[in-house]
Amino acid sequence: MQDPLGKIYKDIGRDEPYHQLVEEFYNGVERDPVLRPLYPQDLTESKRHLSLFLIQRTGGHGTYSQERGHPRMRGRHMPFKIGVAERDAWLVNMNDALYKVEEFAAHRAVLNEFFIEFATFLINQPV
Ligand code: HEM
Repeated sequence: MQDPLGKIYKDIGRDEPYHQLVEEFYNGVERDPVLRPLYPQDLTESKRHLSLFLIQRTGGHGTYSQERGHPRMRGRHMPFKIGVAERDAWLVNMNDALYKVEEFAAHRAVLNEFFIEFATFLINQPV
């Protein structure tokens, strides 16, 4: 398998589990003292953007780019101070969320590897 990440949406087959995953993730963010201050008060749009991005990145429909243009994730994260503590908090919340949505059970390893690599790439503070 060359790009296991890009095959996940096909296996899951619908958007709903992604929305559940993102809902669980942001439930964690809302209670996280490191992450909460970085995010806007109203998380509605943040949830929508993350769901659509993950759907697209795992081989699903391209609504994210239709609405938001090229992902440019590093640029989009530049306004926020992301160090090791922020990265680790993000990963803990996402890992917890992944365990709560059964549809992702078979894909946890691949997704976790992607999240670790991607979140590390987004660090924009000297370590
Ligand atoms: C490393 C720790 C991370 C922190 C602290 C962080 C923080 C943030 C913040 C504060 C926003 C803005 C929210 C908003 O405007 O509503 C954001 C947006 C976003 N983040 Fe992260 N993030 C991290 C990692 C990641 C990772 C690993 C991914 C993807 C796997 C990701 C995907 C996104 C997406 C898709 C958006 C919305 C971009 C858009 O405006 O279209 N983030 N993030």
